[in-house]
Amino acid sequence: MEKRLVVGSDSLVRLSNGNSVNYINFDNAATTPPFKSVIDEITSFSCNYSSIHRGTGYKSIISSRLYDEGREIVLDFVGGNRDYHTVIFLKNTTECINKLSYRLQDTLKDKVVLSTYMEHHSNLLPWKYRYNTDYVEVDSSGRLCLEDLEFKLKLYGGKVGLVAVTGASNVTGYINPIYEIAKICHKYGAKILVDGAQLIPHSPFKMGDINDPEHIDFIAFSGHKMYAPFGTGALVAPKEIFKNGFSEQLGGGIVKYVSMEDVVWLDPPMKEEAGTPNVMGVVALSTSIKMLQDLDMRKIEEYERSLTRYAIDLIQNIPGIILYDDKNVDEKVSIISFNMEGLHHNELALILAREGGIAVRNGCFCAQPYVQRLLKISKEEMMRYRSDENLPDPGLVRISFGLYNDYDEIYLLSYLLNEISRNINYYKNKYINSPFY
Ligand code: ALA
Repeated sequence: MEKRLVVGSDSLVRLSNGNSVNYINFDNAATTPPFKSVIDEITSFSCNYSSIHRGTGYKSIISSRLYDEGREIVLDFVGGNRDYHTVIFLKNTTECINKLSYRLQDTLKDKVVLSTYMEHHSNLLPWKYRYNTDYVEVDSSGRLCLEDLEFKLKLYGGKVGLVAVTGASNVTGYINPIYEIAKICHKYGAKILVDGAQLIPHSPFKMGDINDPEHIDFIAFSGHKMYAPFGTGALVAPKEIFKNGFSEQLGGGIVKYVSMEDVVWLDPPMKEEAGTPNVMGVVALSTSIKMLQDLDMRKIEEYERSLTRYAIDLIQNIPGIILYDDKNVDEKVSIISFNMEGLHHNELALILAREGGIAVRNGCFCAQPYVQRLLKISKEEMMRYRSDENLPDPGLVRISFGLYNDYDEIYLLSYLLNEISRNINYYKNKYINSPFY
């Protein structure tokens, strides 16, 4: 796909030898660069940027209309139902899941929440500290165990109110069979939340008909992972969930009436979005969604899979490379995690940046229980890591592709990995204590 779709694709970066090269961004699972169309739209919209839901001026009307249209654009993108669902705009996926966790307190009273060992901390901690929770296991290759899901749903005898599961792992890229999981959850009376942060930018997704047992009850995702910066995330959920009670964030813009005695709240989604809403973020997200729809999510998925396949083929046989991947590219998004024997993940990531201008992420990616499973680290070993500051932290190196990355960039990565592998003693300790740039 076209590199020039994103801003900054021709950035140069200086290497440790003083040369400058094209920056290669393989850290899209954390944050993607913005679409050029998004920045153009933001610049043009800036002329009309104004207060929203609060003004009678021309610019306020335009700003409010664009913000409200954003909900329709999101609903259309995820196949939501206008009468049944609401779209709440917040900062990111984390904030969306925290809101849901807070607002489900009455619904989930005396219930169990099932999360999984594969989750990002954002879909683990908001449940762990508010609910009676249990976790669905992963198998030895890191895939979610559906047998364990069904076993636990049965074990709790209808008491599981919610299954909170990632659509795609931010560590291995594995896509979970969310529609099949939804069917299993609904059979046992549980609802399903899909953390869509890593799935939505890379694969087609639909909430499904609410009468179909395979439908998804809740989805949350972030703009900054789909070419739309400015801090917007979207939560799509049944309206009725927000009918009773009130938001964890209170302030302006969420009420019909306030006296010193009582309050009448607005209907959702407004009652959940206290303060001046992030209209720039929503304009960015709407523009990015239109762009993704024009490009076609199926084609994006296909292209990114071919990049992933190419990368796995090139790097899997490099001496010393350990892949944490079952190599079933058709059931994953464009994320690959690996290590190189004899080099700490932090060193390897630094070498790639300093010798190749290649940006990756390393560590545990806010998914520590999952990475511990992938690395087969026992609880006892983890205790040693916790108590001994001199032990280097366990972790992995992660590459993640966006739709603008290309085969040449992957070839350069594999070339450099081969070089490092052949000359490991030369590279070892070369950068570990040197300040960056
Ligand atoms: N969750 C993001 C990542 O995996 C930040 O990098």
